[in-house]
Amino acid sequence: MEKTMQLYEGKAKKVYATSDENLVIVSYKDDATALDGLKKGTITGKGAINNRMSNYLMQLLEKEGVPTHFVKELNDRETVVRKVSIVPLEVIIRNISAGSFAKRYGVEEGIVFDEPTIEFSYKNDALHDPLINEYHALALKLASREEIETIKAMAFKVNSVLKAFFLSIGVKLVDFKLEFGRLPDGSIVLADEISPDTCRFWDAKTNEKLDKDRFRRDMGGVEDAYQEMMHRVFGE
Ligand code: TMP
Ligand code: ASP
Repeated sequence: MEKTMQLYEGKAKKVYATSDENLVIVSYKDDATALDGLKKGTITGKGAINNRMSNYLMQLLEKEGVPTHFVKELNDRETVVRKVSIVPLEVIIRNISAGSFAKRYGVEEGIVFDEPTIEFSYKNDALHDPLINEYHALALKLASREEIETIKAMAFKVNSVLKAFFLSIGVKLVDFKLEFGRLPDGSIVLADEISPDTCRFWDAKTNEKLDKDRFRRDMGGVEDAYQEMMHRVFGE
């Protein structure tokens, strides 16, 4: 499978067309942004780590019955995925208070919730991805009621599978962001990526941050954190 023309360039990935109209190739970059794109940088090795980790997790989820866009890893940075039309919602699941939740509601980070929470943001850079609820998503025709129900059920299933997996490698899954896509037949699949860019990972014993918060918050040790997550997942 070969890339033909570039279809899209995002903050962390490029997407290319292929000779098959139903498949595209994603290419992961080392570029990192934060604070709504205001902070820019490079995390050396990130593209390859996010590609491999996301593919591993998508395959684990497929085995557990969650349909995903994953087709085939081509090389350390590139993967063939099913072409989808992205539902313009960022779906965030939280198990422990952190980040914007802690800030918005004025609570400390680290409160373990009895039940996971779910929230939606309207994926729109010009509007800075505003927080919305399901009724807003329906009013804006971002997704149908049925699609929203499917997305919620899939997101909670992803959480239970990943929470257990990460705990088995000594990592607390604090929160994460998912994106979903529509296939030509209208069915919904998990798309985008699952990586230290899109999840908060805390060491189970020390609560050390092993994710992109080290970049967002200028904590140093960013590359080492990505490498550590890679070692834990692949045991290399
Ligand atoms: P938040 O606490 O900043 O709302 O982030 C919640 C989770 O979503 C966290 O794991 C990081 C992830 N996330 C993204 O993947 N992309 C984004 O643009 C933002 C704001 C958060
Ligand atoms: N990637 C997002 C941005 O550039 C935010 C984040 O992950 O913190 O704004």
